[in-house]
Amino acid sequence: MSGQQSGPRPHPEARASAGSLVCRATGERFPLDAPIWRSPAGGLLDIDWPGRLDPANLDPADRSLWRYAPAIALAPGADRITLGEGLTPMVPARLRGIDVLVKQEGLFPTGSYKDRGATVLMTQAARLGVRRVVEDSSGNAGTSIATYAARAGISADVFVPATTSPGKLVQIRSAGARLHRVPGDRQATSDAVWEAAQSCYYASHSWNPFFFEGTKTFAFEVCEQLGWRAPASVMIPTGNGTLLIGAWLGFSALARWGLIDRVPRLIAVQAERCAPLLRAWRLGLHEPADIVPEPTLGEGIAIARPVRGSQCLQAVRQTGGEVLGVSEEEIVSGLRETMAAGFFCEPTCAAAVAALPKLSLADDGPIVVPLTGHGLKAADTIGKLLG
Ligand SMILES: Cc1ncc(COP(=O)(O)O)c(C=O)c1O
Repeated sequence: MSGQQSGPRPHPEARASAGSLVCRATGERFPLDAPIWRSPAGGLLDIDWPGRLDPANLDPADRSLWRYAPAIALAPGADRITLGEGLTPMVPARLRGIDVLVKQEGLFPTGSYKDRGATVLMTQAARLGVRRVVEDSSGNAGTSIATYAARAGISADVFVPATTSPGKLVQIRSAGARLHRVPGDRQATSDAVWEAAQSCYYASHSWNPFFFEGTKTFAFEVCEQLGWRAPASVMIPTGNGTLLIGAWLGFSALARWGLIDRVPRLIAVQAERCAPLLRAWRLGLHEPADIVPEPTLGEGIAIARPVRGSQCLQAVRQTGGEVLGVSEEEIVSGLRETMAAGFFCEPTCAAAVAALPKLSLADDGPIVVPLTGHGLKAADTIGKLLG
């Protein structure tokens, strides 16, 4: 199978029989190499994995997120579907009058942080012997899955809203995936993929728990870049919560292993025009609230019914964070300022910058702002905004 590399030395996952998939609804357990993306009861799956990180044992020659392999749950096997992704730069900047650390998550092979999840999920798919996957996306996750599927020699069908940025559509097609453009909002796309997902492996970034095994490396990187210290807060543009939940898993694991002394406050940022988590937060609910979505420039966070919405709210609550909302005007002005500071990013991630002045938190340490997608993905939209 193409695109596979062997690790520099044996990793625990190659021999592990421990670790399991756990149904959130029933608590039932399944082996890590079960070819499932949800439980037979229809529940979401989490992963229970005994792996851990030892900074002293990180391979200095591995300049990718796979340096954290001992802490990444996978079915047994030594192969990896990788494009050398990860270790994105984190640099100081002053945005909206606040000193922050900008983590450049647009600097991935496909231009978004979704590659974190895709490299791990498609490695799992390859180890399971999967031949075909389906995925639905606002564009970036579909691009990542299509790209890593190509790297693995696995065929992919990707469903996206018809309004998705043209650059992302070209990326998906260029990787050889079959592209399905679905009329209507993002939920219509999720509904369309559902039927296809019943008969093949659903490489879903919201359902499939292996995606979160990849996004949790964001937390490992941030802490390693800070000399194994935790930041005070992280601003996360949130729709389905793949970065939010991944960061929560990663920071919590580091704290459990005694490598950091606090879990940072996780701040979920939503576009006010599509904000089921913001509404739930304001109402004190533990599940996403019902909303009527309206179109937003934050196409990546336009999720009306996040599958793991209750986990998102739990992540925010448990870390002492908050959910913030931003208007379209605030996204545009946040984007302009971010780009003028040298960071060419897509409008979705500017939501995190736009929310900075709304933080109601103590000034007690670094604030990390991940810029989650590269500006080239939405260059046409940005061009129109610039006039
Ligand atoms: C650039 C960008 N940022 C943030 C997000 C939000 O990710 P999630 O929906 O998993 O919260 C997305 C999702 O597509 C995205 O494309």
